[in-house]
Amino acid sequence: MRTDHGGRSFAQSNLLQARLHEVVPGGAHTYARGPDQYPEFMTPILVRGNGCRVWDVDGNEFVEYGMGLRSVTLGHGYSPVVDAVRRAVADGISFSRPTVHELAAAEDFLSLVPGADMVKFAKNGSDVTTAAVKLARAVTGRRRIAVCDQPFFSTDDWFIGTTPMAAGIPDDARQDTARFRYNDLASLAEILDACDVACVVMEAATATAEPQPGYLEGVRALCDRTGTLLVFDEMITGFRWAAGGAQSVYSVTPDLSCWGKAMGNGFPLAALAGRREYMELGGLRTDRDRVFLLSTTHGPETASLAAFRAVADAYRDDDPVGRMEHAGRLLADGVRAAAARHGLGEYLEVVGRPSCLVFVTRDAERVPSQAYRTLFLQELLRRGVLGQSFVTSAAHTETDVELTVAAVEAALMVYRRAIDRGSVAGLLCGRPVAPAIRRTAEPRRVD
Ligand SMILES: Cc1ncc(COP(=O)(O)O)c(C=O)c1O
Repeated sequence: MRTDHGGRSFAQSNLLQARLHEVVPGGAHTYARGPDQYPEFMTPILVRGNGCRVWDVDGNEFVEYGMGLRSVTLGHGYSPVVDAVRRAVADGISFSRPTVHELAAAEDFLSLVPGADMVKFAKNGSDVTTAAVKLARAVTGRRRIAVCDQPFFSTDDWFIGTTPMAAGIPDDARQDTARFRYNDLASLAEILDACDVACVVMEAATATAEPQPGYLEGVRALCDRTGTLLVFDEMITGFRWAAGGAQSVYSVTPDLSCWGKAMGNGFPLAALAGRREYMELGGLRTDRDRVFLLSTTHGPETASLAAFRAVADAYRDDDPVGRMEHAGRLLADGVRAAAARHGLGEYLEVVGRPSCLVFVTRDAERVPSQAYRTLFLQELLRRGVLGQSFVTSAAHTETDVELTVAAVEAALMVYRRAIDRGSVAGLLCGRPVAPAIRRTAEPRRVD
């Protein structure tokens, strides 16, 4: 077993990770950030970030990819956002009545998302997707929902109940959720024609799949024909595909859309947006029974609304999506060329939109492999690159990309050895990573 880490020590991180396991279940506050998502004993505990660089407690510096689970598009510590937040919080953050920030932020948001008439802010993406489901059920008087076979929509029972990690969720919470296949209109039509469905919940596109021509228009038409509401989850696509989200890129307008992640450049803000006739059911301009729509203590706190307004300015005045895509294209080209030089083009693949790149790692039989993924992550960490993906931000410069490609080049020498031997044994220092959402703590159970 190799114990060197390319001159880097993870000793302090390992100590703090052990302490985290004592006090926080899973040793992290988000499963996707958990130690089981990284090579064992190489799980940096971070102290700060700047742009696309982060530093850990051992003093290691990394170029980061993924950027806060895709929530930071402008870079860590982006000063216009930080300054706007400072100014806002100096005047108080939570009051007994709405602030001017709420009106201004709502107007800013609706100017970016022309398909929506109204918006309501919250803190978490999961809360707004759940609110969309509740609202659609109230609008239609139907229970069942159709949810696309994409990775994640909410921490709530209607979604987590359909995953392998469903302990504690009553069976009936998942019985109303049917899953359909992306880019397969027939699989959705089968569900919508078989029974009354309140809403279709889907991402218009993901890192790994763009809509085939006519697909989203077909989904829209199916929803219209069956009286089903169409809900787009714009958590990842919003402010990454475009400021106006995937709906603006593909020109298909949903009835409701759900936003979060990059809205506040890392500050906690989410939003439910949509057509007035539906959103008003949560308001005071209706004679129908009222829907309890996202009423939370922290929903309108001023810090995150100020952050969002500064983000909106950045997208209006500058082209962060263009910069993310530029860095992504350079990186994809560099990594593909390095893989080709090592004869590994079929084993390490970079896929996705340039602003949302992910990598696929395959074993000697060309089968996607968690062990080879872990080896690749390990070798990148040793060379100053921290990332479960190659998702860029507007703060990734050409220098950062060059450093990353050099790290990939060196990592691939080790990868090549593993492919030639047909095994990662002797090269991988700990156990392989495991899917974040799985039934048991094994294969990364911690003692
Ligand atoms: C597509 C998508 N929808 C919804 C969510 C839930 O957002 P949050 O973690 O803010 O609750 C996520 C989180 O990763 C997501 O990726």
